Amino acid sequence: MTALFLSLCVCLALALSNAAPAHHDVMIKDAPEDERQSHPKGEELHDAKPDRCKGVEFDAITPDEKGNTFFFKGDHLWKGFVGSAELSSSIFKELDDYHHLGHVDAAFRMHHQDDASVHDHIYFFLDDKVFSFYNYTLEKGYPVEIQQEFPGIPSHLDAAVECPKGECITDSVLFFKGNETYSYDIKTKTVKKKMWTHLPNCTSAFRWLEHYYCFHGFNFTRFHPVSGEVTGTYPKDVRHYFMRCGEGFGHGGGARKLRCSEVKLHAVTTDDKGRSYAFHDAMYLRLDTHRDGSHRFPISRSWKEISGGVDAVFSYGDNMYIIQGSQIYIYKSAAHYTLIEGYPKPLKEELGIDGPVDAAFLCPKQDTVYFIQGQKMYEVDLAATPRVVKKEIPIPFPKIDAGLCDADGVKVFIGPEYYSYESPMILAMSRIKPIPQKISPEKFGCED
Ligand SMILES: *[C@@H]1O[C@H](CO)[C@@H](O)[C@H](O)[C@H]1NC(C)=O
Ligand SMILES: *[C@@H]1O[C@H](CO)[C@@H](O)[C@H](O)[C@H]1NC(C)=O
Ligand SMILES: *[C@@H]1O[C@H](CO)[C@@H](O)[C@H](O)[C@H]1NC(C)=O
Ligand SMILES: *[C@@H]1O[C@H](CO)[C@@H](O)[C@H](O)[C@H]1NC(C)=O
Repeated sequence: MTALFLSLCVCLALALSNAAPAHHDVMIKDAPEDERQSHPKGEELHDAKPDRCKGVEFDAITPDEKGNTFFFKGDHLWKGFVGSAELSSSIFKELDDYHHLGHVDAAFRMHHQDDASVHDHIYFFLDDKVFSFYNYTLEKGYPVEIQQEFPGIPSHLDAAVECPKGECITDSVLFFKGNETYSYDIKTKTVKKKMWTHLPNCTSAFRWLEHYYCFHGFNFTRFHPVSGEVTGTYPKDVRHYFMRCGEGFGHGGGARKLRCSEVKLHAVTTDDKGRSYAFHDAMYLRLDTHRDGSHRFPISRSWKEISGGVDAVFSYGDNMYIIQGSQIYIYKSAAHYTLIEGYPKPLKEELGIDGPVDAAFLCPKQDTVYFIQGQKMYEVDLAATPRVVKKEIPIPFPKIDAGLCDADGVKVFIGPEYYSYESPMILAMSRIKPIPQKISPEKFGCED
């Protein structure tokens, strides 16, 4: 798993021209107040542009509403994973009015869809003030005292990161200061203090594709946003993962995304929370979060008990059914996927069909699941007891890779192409294949 994570992260920098992970600084922040005022911050802040490949301890990292990631250090920032530093005030102009501060302590992108007046705004923290930006423009009435907007949160923060409902229990923000973490509930404005003493002091924090990273020094550590738990081998050097640094940082240099023409899905599904996933070999890709980029992670990262690839996946109610060979795993889907006790079980025993299957799908608000095995489609009513194959229908394809049914109808995937039908019955009855559509970079995070 560690090796996989490594090789995956290799392609991170390249994968996303649009999205960026972020990082933060300690040197400046930790300097005593008077020293900050009287001493120049050193060559990297004044004479020359800082070079993040030489090792920079970032002050803050945040995505914007378009999915670009900004890394901040002193009065400079980097936009995205590739490229050189520029003055922060060239993008966030009003920060210049407070330029004497010369840095930001922390930043995050607010996730709170219930309130359009704050959702997707970027919040910057400077000493005891908070600034809210949208569309790169300072919102009226800002800056304000941090405690006015975020009661219970201290000044002179080190790091901050959004944590949407589903990943945290409620829409929240995690704030970091020294060895303390504050979990702030956006709606109720309640604060829970956490002592995650196993975590290093984070100088910046970043959420990227449902993963949470604490940056410290030139390193980062991935943690769980609710428990603070760290799994895997950390810390890792930021330069191998979150930026492209060439020589000596081979990881960031040579990898690339899968070409769309090489894609062969094994399964695809959308759960009741609207999360869409594509499965390919032992990896999965989230399909509905493209704003912030796309990246393949090992299936076992989200569905711990699954090793290797899967054959078919479908969602029914708040459960996700994963078929591997002749076995079926049923996961409860909440913030995380939890295997239901007693699983995996033989597919035959659970659904009355022999594995393996090529694809399985269920249309929204229906109880009938369709399995495809070679040129046959089988119908099983999940509301019936016992569950048995009700109908067997031939389909006009010799072999398919994956199938999906959503509000737009059925999609049948074969290699890098897919065919759309209005319904499973129309798929079964149609004599003429529709024109195939290509798996596209926009929808599948691959490379043209
Ligand atoms: C964003 O700001 C630019 C000018 O800085 C303006 O032209 C544009 O209309 C704004 N977009 C939105 C969505 O407010
Ligand atoms: C972490 O922060 C605490 C203050 O909360 C400080 O005492 C400690 O020295 C810091 N540790 C490191 C390694 O900087
Ligand atoms: C956290 O830092 C404070 C100093 O700010 C220190 O007194 C305390 O022992 C630290 N706690 C841990 C668990 O390191
Ligand atoms: C990064 O982590 C390694 C251990 O993996 C440690 O030896 C090194 O000192 C750390 N460097 C920085 C700058 O944090």
